[in-house]
Amino acid sequence: MATYDVREIRTPILEPTELIARGVGQLTDIVSKEMFAFERGSTNYVLRPEITAPVMRAYMQHHLDQSGGAQRLYYIGPCFRAERPQKGRFRQFHQFGAEFIGAPDPVSDAESVALMMAVYTSLGISDTILRLNTLGDEQSRPRYRAALVKYFEPYLDDLTETSRRRLDQNPLRILDTKVPQEKALLVEAPRLIDYVDDESRRHYDRVKTHLSDIGVEFVEDPMLVRGLDYYTRTAFELESPQLGAQSALAGGGRYDLLSVEIGSKTPIPAVGFAAGMERLFLALDEGVAEYDNPPPDVFIVALGDEAVREAFKIAHALRREHKSVAYDLLGRSMKAQMREANRHGSRWTMILGERELAEAEVQLKNMETGEQRPVPIRTIAQFIV
Ligand code: HAM
Repeated sequence: MATYDVREIRTPILEPTELIARGVGQLTDIVSKEMFAFERGSTNYVLRPEITAPVMRAYMQHHLDQSGGAQRLYYIGPCFRAERPQKGRFRQFHQFGAEFIGAPDPVSDAESVALMMAVYTSLGISDTILRLNTLGDEQSRPRYRAALVKYFEPYLDDLTETSRRRLDQNPLRILDTKVPQEKALLVEAPRLIDYVDDESRRHYDRVKTHLSDIGVEFVEDPMLVRGLDYYTRTAFELESPQLGAQSALAGGGRYDLLSVEIGSKTPIPAVGFAAGMERLFLALDEGVAEYDNPPPDVFIVALGDEAVREAFKIAHALRREHKSVAYDLLGRSMKAQMREANRHGSRWTMILGERELAEAEVQLKNMETGEQRPVPIRTIAQFIV
């Protein structure tokens, strides 16, 4: 993110339901079926199902436009959708993404895609398919919608219940059908690209040119419509064929009118993407590299109440010197504590029993060499290196 000059933003997990309903769209699956929403007082809240509308809300609420230029913001955090869990699909999952707000130029669309791709290529995930489409402006979509409805009218009896409902409420979603018989009908259906306005076409061409200039490969997919209603012009999705049914790694696009939907008087041009973290982990060939908690600098083995009391004081003093310290909290035998010390993998083990206490010293053991020697308690910090 730093390479792309993108800075972090953190927004709350709870948002007013109204923001998401207006932003993402009442008729989308996300809003109509998948929200975890509840009422408190006179307000309805939702566990955020995505972070684009919240980021736009924050931008408007806190007048981020006044910080000058386009805002390039990234986020990483939990999202919630009441879907049926399966491989790669969870009710609580994590998204990371970036939004370029106040950015009208097609170069921002290309940059958003480039940034998304850079995340995967830098992790060695290259077996992906990038799909690209343009959805046109706010005039082209209703024209296309009408054409689609008209085309399907004679076939209403052949459609599934779901598709009939979609055709009625949100016709573009029919392009997402997985039913073979409906897919066959789509072959002859009107194509979105034929309804797209000239300005959007030019914008789309520029995005494609910029991507080609830096060698990002993509396929144009005229059937690509996204599950959120706020897109205008560019839409894209990154897919990993190895992931099975839930193959979408990430997706995004331009959403110049989202701001107006959620209360801005003038449109704020913006483009961005979001990616599923769990799906990223699934796509990693070698699995997720385990996060290594570094071992503590020293493990204290203390025998008896007085020794435990002293160990507590030593640990406190060492931690103030920025040394990390672990010790056994169960009052177990010497043998059990030594086993614990080994398990922790710290370089030093300090042994403190009655005899050491009487001499105001500890036995300091180097766990790498096995060497052990007495060291006065008050000088101990200088030995832990
Ligand atoms: P989205 O396609 O709904 O787009 O979600 C983005 C990614 O989140 C998906 O590609 C997928 O990897 C992951 N994801 C979604 N639902 C789940 C789930 N139930 N379990 C696991 N992973 C999931 C958005 O959310 C837009 N806000 C993207 C965007 C940003 N558009 C513009 N800026």
